[in-house]
Amino acid sequence: LKSQPTIFIIFGGTGDLNARKLAPALYNLYLEHWLPEQFAIVGTGRTKLTDDDFRERLHKDIDQFSRSGKAKAEQWDSFAPHVHYYPADVQNADTYQIFGEHIKELESEWQQPANVIYYLAVAPNFFPIIAENLAKAGLTADAERTRIVIEKPIGHDLESAKELNALLGRIFQEKQIYRIDHYLGKETVQNIMAFRFANAIMEPLWNRNYIEHVQISVTEQLGVGDRLGYYDGSGALRDMIQNHLLQLLCIVAMEPPVSFTAEEVRARKVDVLRAMRRFTPESVRDMAVRGQYGPGWIEGQQVPGYRQEAEQQGVNPQSNTETFAAVKFFVDNWRWQGVPFYLRTGKRLHRTASVITIQFKEVPHSIFPSSMMDTQRQNRLIISIQPEMSIRLQVQAKRPGVDMVLNAVDMVFDYKGTYVAQAPEAYETLLLDVLLGDQTLFMRGDQVEEAWDLVMPILTSWQNRVSQNFPNYSADSWGPEVAEALIAKDGFHWFTLP
Ligand code: BG6
Repeated sequence: LKSQPTIFIIFGGTGDLNARKLAPALYNLYLEHWLPEQFAIVGTGRTKLTDDDFRERLHKDIDQFSRSGKAKAEQWDSFAPHVHYYPADVQNADTYQIFGEHIKELESEWQQPANVIYYLAVAPNFFPIIAENLAKAGLTADAERTRIVIEKPIGHDLESAKELNALLGRIFQEKQIYRIDHYLGKETVQNIMAFRFANAIMEPLWNRNYIEHVQISVTEQLGVGDRLGYYDGSGALRDMIQNHLLQLLCIVAMEPPVSFTAEEVRARKVDVLRAMRRFTPESVRDMAVRGQYGPGWIEGQQVPGYRQEAEQQGVNPQSNTETFAAVKFFVDNWRWQGVPFYLRTGKRLHRTASVITIQFKEVPHSIFPSSMMDTQRQNRLIISIQPEMSIRLQVQAKRPGVDMVLNAVDMVFDYKGTYVAQAPEAYETLLLDVLLGDQTLFMRGDQVEEAWDLVMPILTSWQNRVSQNFPNYSADSWGPEVAEALIAKDGFHWFTLP
């Protein structure tokens, strides 16, 4: 890698994603000596900037958003010359000649051919035109050296996802296409695979014989913020469940891959999605619920409801978009038959936390009368992805005392107490993988399409049925009552970390 010259071309160079995530990630990779000796970061966008203007912007962004804090002068000074900027209109095919010339210049300076990574940090409606213009300019022909990175949303529904995949497929080979789901780059998410497939004690229990149900909960305290323009056309199901939460489900539910390679891991995940029970219009009513936040108070501050924010941002003030969704899924295969997977996500909830809870069945025969037992009798494995980074195994133990009384206690692996090193940001891991050409943590085209296929009946049904009672939860709550009812009717409740 060190000796492999690389050029990152970032479309949307002046945008939010580059400012908050990409530039800080590249900078931290540089600080930790992961980047090749010869590399260039080329930002491009409609704004007219010089190299120096762009460097100054990135410097400020890195100071503000990098996990390693403000850039030190000496380190910044050695990083900055690698950064360049080209003002360009991505819709204009001629401007792509300039990229070609710039790539050639750098290659002749380095006296070696370079790997070129095109990062499309732009709105998805620009994906097709950029890909086509790159191809027309002959910039994508070398399948070994060129890669394209795109972000979600990958399509708005099944049909548009298929169209986009087909278009990209005409220009690139699948091995050149990196579809980012940033959840897969999170340290704790990668660790689920280590936990499941490098430990002997879990695998025998990891099935319908021992597991009663699974919960995947990604709750956020923040509202939609200033992103109504995007979010109102999306909603929680498209924004989170179709991608991040289903990816988590796949990692929990997948069969052991034969090896830790991109083809194997991704194939086993697609198997899960293909095995998932499809919805009918009737089952959607039973298994999927939605919500939208109203106004409320968060930490002493009054916050507006979604519809007020919509009005302020010039979006439909009667919006029917869901900011909360909870769905019950089944994976119809031998391992998981009959085990419900409850997924929920929402904004403006009581707390920000991403947690997977695996609840095991009760012991086959209890020798302890109920008077001696905790109300929580079942073992639970609780994988906390963020902000707490931990894995807890909840077991029964005897409470100290002369009488025999049991209660649930946690056996805890906590990153904070175990490791000194700071975990990298998801984007650092993912960008390095693009550099290395490792697609394990990226979504394959068919994976994206299967996930869309699965959620389409819910989307269609919700689109056809205007919700009569929005807003149906207030800020700082745990979501609408229907979400509690969804899981309570099976005799369970949503788990939250204390
Ligand atoms: C993004 C969604 O993909 O993920 C956002 O578009 C959401 O709406 C975000 O807030 C959550 O990511 P994280 O890493 O903060 O959990």
